Amino acid sequence: MSNLLATLGMLSEMPLTMIRCRRRFTGGRRLDGQTVVITGGSAGIGKEAAYQLSLRAPKKIIIGSRNAENNERAVRELMGRNPSANITALRLDLSSLQSVREFAKEIAGTESRVDVLINNAGVPVVTGPPVETVDGYEQQLAANYLGN
Ligand SMILES: NC(=O)c1ccc[n+]([C@@H]2O[C@H](COP(=O)([O-])OP(=O)(O)OC[C@H]3O[C@@H](n4cnc5c(N)ncnc54)[C@H](OP(=O)(O)O)[C@@H]3O)[C@@H](O)[C@H]2O)c1
Repeated sequence: MSNLLATLGMLSEMPLTMIRCRRRFTGGRRLDGQTVVITGGSAGIGKEAAYQLSLRAPKKIIIGSRNAENNERAVRELMGRNPSANITALRLDLSSLQSVREFAKEIAGTESRVDVLINNAGVPVVTGPPVETVDGYEQQLAANYLGN
């Protein structure tokens, strides 16, 4: 009985929740002079975040993902959508600590500071058998916790 009531309560809340989720962020805050780093910026939420933040005129946006071709394609697409943006891509595999260190080192070599860091990339829920990374950690722990 209590389960049924809880379910009914959830269902009655649903339309309002959907309306709330559809609300757009309309703040006008700019990012002039700032450096933004987005992990997993070559696709999905990370790529759209890169585009949306580029509209706020940061000095530079750096996206990091594993696949170099996808990285380059994403940069081309983002620059096509916003030609005034300054977006670059670096290779990053969050499940390899060496890759994470190299990514951080490359950024430290060109940027005096990182103002916005979006730890977006991650391994979603794992259903198959555990996968071990090059460093000997379980893949999800390595990418979502240690790598980030
Ligand atoms: N979409 C959803 O409904 C949803 C819901 C809950 C949570 N999330 C989380 O939100 C984040 C983004 O989701 P999404 O839907 O935008 O994912 P997506 O479209 O699959 O994009 C994932 C991005 O992360 C990169 N990536 C994946 N593994 C990586 C790794 N080990 N190291 C570095 N980059 C990596 C991918 O590029 P490469 O493959 O080239 O590396 C890609 O750029 C993920 O962490 C996901 O688990 C998403």
